[in-house]
Amino acid sequence: MNRTNRRALTVAIGASALWLAVGPAWAHGDVGPQAVATDGLEPLAADAWLDENPYRGNRQAIEIGASAYGQNCARCHGLDAVSGGIAPDLRELGPEYDDYFIGKVRSGVQRNGMTYMPAFEGVLDQEAMWAIRAYLDKRHYEYNDKDPAALYEQAEGRG
Ligand code: HEC
Repeated sequence: MNRTNRRALTVAIGASALWLAVGPAWAHGDVGPQAVATDGLEPLAADAWLDENPYRGNRQAIEIGASAYGQNCARCHGLDAVSGGIAPDLRELGPEYDDYFIGKVRSGVQRNGMTYMPAFEGVLDQEAMWAIRAYLDKRHYEYNDKDPAALYEQAEGRG
């Protein structure tokens, strides 16, 4: 190998090492817990936790939730909520799991002194958590090949 080729190879290896270092973090949009702007959503009481998603099928909530999910959950639960195996696939949780969902997100998961999932109470407000849930409701529909029109109708029927 001549000198020029060797140098080109070194640069290529250097660039891919840098990609490995910053790539995954960057790709998951993960820069630590992120405050979520929920302007435009019906405000919820700060101290009265609901056990059912008030925003199910609400398009604006789904949009806010998609972004909030990407910033706060995707690094463990996977991009687009497709689990890579390190944390459960959240598309599997149907509407009957609303109460279970909000409990997990508020408290996180600790076992034997280990934090498997951080608690989000105090980091995200109730509006942000249910917006994430609204996004996951949509992913649940898509995962099960259900018609999302039925999901949107639930919000329109409430409104
Ligand atoms: C640091 C990694 C991590 C982050 C960040 C994280 N989770 Fe988790 N989550 C986990 C793990 C691991 C579990 C499984 C814990 C266990 O063993 O019971 C879990 C479990 C859950 C469960 C219960 C799932 C089930 O099928 O039982 C829900 C709901 C959940 N997470 C929602 C979220 C949401 C929403 C976010 C973002 C706001 C989030 N998680 C952020 C790691 C994470």
